[in-house]
Amino acid sequence: MIIVIGGIKGGAGKSTIAANLAARRSTEHKVLLVDGDEQETTTLWAATRSENFPDKSENLTCIQLRGRATRDEVLKLSTHYQDVLIDVGGRDTTTQRAALTIANLVLLPLPPRGPDIWTLDKVAELLADVRIVNPSLSAWAFLNRADASGTDNQDAMQMISDTPGIELIPPCIGDRKAFPNAHTQGLSVMEVKPHSQKAVKELEELYQYCFDSDIVLNKN
Ligand SMILES: Nc1ncnc2c1ncn2[C@@H]1O[C@H](COP(=O)(O)OP(=O)(O)O)[C@@H](O)[C@H]1O
Ligand SMILES: [Mg+2]
Repeated sequence: MIIVIGGIKGGAGKSTIAANLAARRSTEHKVLLVDGDEQETTTLWAATRSENFPDKSENLTCIQLRGRATRDEVLKLSTHYQDVLIDVGGRDTTTQRAALTIANLVLLPLPPRGPDIWTLDKVAELLADVRIVNPSLSAWAFLNRADASGTDNQDAMQMISDTPGIELIPPCIGDRKAFPNAHTQGLSVMEVKPHSQKAVKELEELYQYCFDSDIVLNKN
């Protein structure tokens, strides 16, 4: 599978989710993690991981790609890996578009906040463009950094459900310190100490949903 962790807003949690899913997936499969953002968050995460935990990095290779090469090189490399996860920058870039043309799935982490939710229409337009060349592309949005209480989560989920071409999926990730704690150490929330049971459970739910081959195959 080729999965883009996309969207056009910085700070939504793309790099965090990409790293966590890649780490989790690499416990079972050979994973290629592509950093398509010039901010290089994912490259730094992977470098920290390789340096501090070389044993955890065996099944996880991280490379940087930008622009059209994101399509061409991933297509060549994808035969060597079970899964490719592509983290992109928080804008509508050639890199993101190139990645989306070859992806099976784009995951859209969305904090339940106005500035993030307001990008949905633009993301839908971007996806409509890309589907001209990649009609089977699935787009799944979920809440990231969700609130513990209040009505903002529900409002955001309604806005996602109302956006054509984007599907709201059930997994939901709360705002949990374990994510930045793990990320700065080159780890996932599954691996970091102290353990956050809630973060682990939420990530596992997202992981199972994304890599449940039946769900994805039925979509495509
Ligand atoms: N579920 C979460 N809980 C708490 N903090 C989070 C969560 N997801 C992301 N963050 C934090 O939000 C900030 C932006 O996340 P990042 O993954 O870099 O976003 P993006 O790649 O979309 O720009 C980072 O400081 C990250 O640690
Ligand atoms: Mg990022």
